[in-house]
Amino acid sequence: MSTVVYYYTLTGHCEKLSGKIADQMHCETERIIEKKKRLSKGFLRFLNGGSAIQKRSAEVASVRNEPGQFDRIVVVTPFWAASPTPAVRGFVELYHQDLKGKKLGLVLTNLGTDPAEAFAKYQELFPEPLVKRSFTKAKGEWEDPREDELIREFVLEIDK
Ligand SMILES: Cc1cc2nc3c(=O)[nH]c(=O)nc-3n(C[C@H](O)[C@H](O)[C@H](O)COP(=O)(O)O)c2cc1C
Repeated sequence: MSTVVYYYTLTGHCEKLSGKIADQMHCETERIIEKKKRLSKGFLRFLNGGSAIQKRSAEVASVRNEPGQFDRIVVVTPFWAASPTPAVRGFVELYHQDLKGKKLGLVLTNLGTDPAEAFAKYQELFPEPLVKRSFTKAKGEWEDPREDELIREFVLEIDK
């Protein structure tokens, strides 16, 4: 089964995690890139949460490997203010047709808010049910302490 992992990242966490997931799934990763640059440093980066709450879509560049050619598609992204990132909203709008009928996975990273609300909002965007997992960075660390176990669980579930 052909698989691809797309990721959106502002500060690097999802890039790192998507590489680990792709290693387990023996597939490639590709970054979702917004055409307009965003503030990514310091406290001001949290202002981006406003556009997520307002359901804004960002214009994203076309990906090299279009989703239509894969059977399984995994998207790794943070959530912002319990809402989808504008980049992933834009990505799903751009490739909505290509995502239909595919096996879809969604992996979220966050700093500790309950991801249930964000998962529900992301699910509304995608055309198929999502296999879901969320990763929460431990205090003072970069990774979720259960990262390896959660990746294994996710891969087993999307393999079914
Ligand atoms: C604008 C903005 C809003 C955020 N909102 C939340 C939130 O509601 N809950 C949460 O737990 N983390 C929130 N975070 C933290 C990110 O989800 C978390 O740091 C994520 O791992 C970042 O991924 P990245 O490094 O790939 O960009 C927010 C971060 C930003 C920049």
